[in-house]
Amino acid sequence: MIDADGHRYLDVLGEFTAGIFGHSDPLIGETVSDALSKGVSNGAPGAAEIELSQIMTERFPAVEKIRFCNTGTEANLYALTLAKSFTGRQKVMVFEGAYHGGVFVFATGGSPMNVPFDWIVARYNDIEVTRKLLAENAGELAAVIIEPMMSNGGCIAADVDFMQMLRDECSSCGALLVFDEVVTSRMGAEGLQGRLNIHPDLTTFGKYIGAGFSFGAFGGRADVLELMNPNNPDALPHAGTYNNNVFTMQTGVVAMRDIFTRSRADKLYEDGERLRDRLNSLCAKASNRVQFTGLGSTMNIHFCGGKIKNPNDLRGENSVLKKLFHLHMLDKGIYAARRGQINLSLPMQQEHFDTIASGVGSFLQRYAYHVREAA
Ligand SMILES: Cc1ncc(COP(=O)(O)O)c(C=O)c1O
Repeated sequence: MIDADGHRYLDVLGEFTAGIFGHSDPLIGETVSDALSKGVSNGAPGAAEIELSQIMTERFPAVEKIRFCNTGTEANLYALTLAKSFTGRQKVMVFEGAYHGGVFVFATGGSPMNVPFDWIVARYNDIEVTRKLLAENAGELAAVIIEPMMSNGGCIAADVDFMQMLRDECSSCGALLVFDEVVTSRMGAEGLQGRLNIHPDLTTFGKYIGAGFSFGAFGGRADVLELMNPNNPDALPHAGTYNNNVFTMQTGVVAMRDIFTRSRADKLYEDGERLRDRLNSLCAKASNRVQFTGLGSTMNIHFCGGKIKNPNDLRGENSVLKKLFHLHMLDKGIYAARRGQINLSLPMQQEHFDTIASGVGSFLQRYAYHVREAA
């Protein structure tokens, strides 16, 4: 990346995970030109959306049927309203610190812009608190929505026992379990649900799948999606001018069929695991008050020690050091997220991982005292 002043950077922000293909993948470029040359406003169903839906349902086994929309926010809105209609219930469980889109912000106890659902706010990775809330609301709960790794909240992975508890409790109380995999579907061939081997009732997607074009999708159990089958006279509506926009559908097919293949998805995950281990061994040498959390190709630095299980564990974090880290990385020609998040992309090679490690290493060295004393 080159900024307006001519400075060059390695982009490790990766458009907050949407930029998995890098900046100018030639195959995506050709696909965009091809779509343009064929005419973009067809006002009708097209072949690409059928192919993309086949690719997605093959790739994610819990997704028996899928519908496309335009953003991750929209996907979550549809998934949750569908869950409310399917169950005939109103309450939705979400987790403190979660972010599921512009109208689903739970970072600081909610937002006035949130959709006015009847929310129950539980604690991520806390089996006891969450199980109690589930029991108290069992008969009224339409859905539980969760990211299998809280990405915006600081790349905090969910424990498999916690996720299995949610699966079991949702099945027994009849609430739908919704996995927001807008970010985490990049975590290997079948997303994080494949890695955890836990099947949600509904899954939402977004970000990179449209290869840079605005994308959203929600899918899951066929009996739930059947409520939106337009062949039924009383089908729930799903209108939207750009739901099957030609660029997204065609680039999505190429992105998921030809570029982000199952094996490349697994490799990117493993590359990320190796890099995070490497960064964490640098951290461990510097101090017990700095660490990288995350999974696979997405990671976040934190200036605190101990196991981070949910955003409450980050309360005592030194936010000034985070700002300093961001500025230091910029100074070293590395463009990370301001909150200390690093997202890998497919064009990255060993030399780029070395650059990241060297940026982190030089930060830990230069600010050794502050990192050791960070509290
Ligand atoms: C986990 C998660 N869900 C949903 C969204 C919302 O997606 P969009 O920005 O496409 O509306 C985001 C965006 O950052 C996200 O990280």
